[in-house]
Amino acid sequence: MNTSTNTSTNTGTHRDNRTLASRLPASRRPPRVATARRFLMCPPTHFDVTYSINPWMRPEAGADRSRALAQWARLRDLYRELGHTVEEIPPAPRLPDMVFAANGATVIDGRVLGARFRHPERAAEGPAYLAWFTERGYGATHAPRFVNEGEGDYLLAGRMILAGTGFRTEPRSHEEAEEFFGLPVVSLTLVNPAYYHLDTALCVLSETEIMYYPGAFDAGTRAVLESLFPDAVLAGPEDAVVFGLNALSDGRHVLLPSAAGRLAASLAARGFEPIGVDLSELLKAGGSVKCCTLELRRDH
Ligand code: ARG
Repeated sequence: MNTSTNTSTNTGTHRDNRTLASRLPASRRPPRVATARRFLMCPPTHFDVTYSINPWMRPEAGADRSRALAQWARLRDLYRELGHTVEEIPPAPRLPDMVFAANGATVIDGRVLGARFRHPERAAEGPAYLAWFTERGYGATHAPRFVNEGEGDYLLAGRMILAGTGFRTEPRSHEEAEEFFGLPVVSLTLVNPAYYHLDTALCVLSETEIMYYPGAFDAGTRAVLESLFPDAVLAGPEDAVVFGLNALSDGRHVLLPSAAGRLAASLAARGFEPIGVDLSELLKAGGSVKCCTLELRRDH
C-alpha cells in the first residue's frame, strides 16, 4: 500500500494524533460492543423545583411530577430493555433533587466514595445514598472530607478519573478521590454556570473516547482535553443547551436527550447507536439522562 499521502506520518509539521481505528472509514471500523452495566436510580416521587441552586431552576415555574415520573420510568425501562440492571433507592420526602442519583456517590471497583453536597438543600442526600451502600454490604465505603457531588463531577474513562471543579466539587476532593481509588485523577475546570457539573459538559463514550462542549471549560482544561482526547466528539452550544452531553454510553448505545439532534448524528457517524430520550421535565431542575443514573462498578 502506498502510504506517501497518509497524513498520519509524523515527519511533517502536521501531526495526526487520532487513534488508528478512528482513521479507518466507517465501514471498516470494528462494530461497537455494549457491555452490561449496573445502575442505581431514584424515582422522582418527590421531585419538584422549590429552590434554585443552578441557572436552570425556576421555583416560580415549578414542575409536573407525574410527567417527570413517566419520563424517568421510560429511561429506566430502556436501560432494562438494553440488558442493563437497574436498582432503585427509595426516594426521601423533602429531597426533591434526590432523583439525580449520579450525585449520590462514585463507585469504582466496588469502592464507594460518598458525596458531600455544596448546598444545604441537598446535604441529607449524601448520608442517604451512603447508607444504601453499607446496607447492601459494600465493604469499602468512605464518608468524604471534602465537597464532591459524586458522578456529577467524577467520570471514569478507562482507568483514569476525569474530575470536574469550579462550581460544586472542591479541588481538594480530587486528591481525596485519587487516594481512595488509587487511580489517576485529571482535574478539569468548569467556567460556565449553566454547565455546573462535569456530566453536563462531558460524556465518556468508551474507555478511550469522550464527547464534550469546549465552551464549558477554561483554556487550560481545553488544552488538556485536546491532548488527552484528540479524537473527541465536540458538541456545539445548541447540543449543550439541551443537555446533549448529559448522556450515558454502554459502549454501543448512547442514551441522550432527544433534542440533541446534531450530536446524535455525530455519534451515529462514529458507529454508536444514539437513542433519544425525553426528560424535559427533569431539565427544569438542571438534569437529564446521566444525572438520573449512577453506575455501580463492582469490579473490573
Ligand atoms: N438540581 C440539581 C442540582 O443543582 C441537579 C443535579 C443534576 N445532576 C447532575 N449529575 N448534573 O444539584
